[in-house]
Amino acid sequence: MKKYFTVLTVMLLAAMAVATWAETKKGAMLPKDWMTYQFIGSLIITDQKSPLFGIHHFYMNKKGIETFKKGGAYPDGTIIVDAVYEAVMGQGGMINEGKKLFYPVMIKDSKGKEAKETGGWIFAAFDPDGKPIQMDVKKGCFECHASVKDSDYVFSKPLK
Ligand code: HEC
Repeated sequence: MKKYFTVLTVMLLAAMAVATWAETKKGAMLPKDWMTYQFIGSLIITDQKSPLFGIHHFYMNKKGIETFKKGGAYPDGTIIVDAVYEAVMGQGGMINEGKKLFYPVMIKDSKGKEAKETGGWIFAAFDPDGKPIQMDVKKGCFECHASVKDSDYVFSKPLK
């Protein structure tokens, strides 16, 4: 009997951990293991006036990879992390990563409250220490990503 309760407690704790993983009272969190995700592409914006200035490296967790290859709607739990570094111009056209600027993140949560007005995705941004950056993600993220509704608001495509 005691064993049974222990198993139940562990299951309950696991369920609570899953529930708080993407959506906490404080909002989405930067996943700690994002570096283990699959690299799916890059983007470089050298215009310092752009809010997206920098070298972007995109990573997707396992959950979304099949959809990324085939297309269609991404399953809940898909996470895409963008690690953005300062673009430092060097000689001979060289562009290198400087300091870390921020992390824009998309988390698919089609039933969640936080994603209701942003296409079933939680859009969030984190500073280099992983702390949330407060911003209007509907205006600052989603309105641009809305142009790729056909690919479930994800711009990146598999590299040829
Ligand atoms: C002005 C348009 C624009 C805005 C604003 C914007 N993005 Fe993006 N985002 C893009 C483009 C374009 C790409 C893909 C570039 C590529 O294909 O290499 C992208 C890629 C991404 C990706 C990788 C997945 C994908 O769609 O390819 C994530 C994650 C992401 N953006 C999150 C955010 C978040 C979070 C914000 C707000 C803080 C934001 N973006 C604001 C245009 C935008």
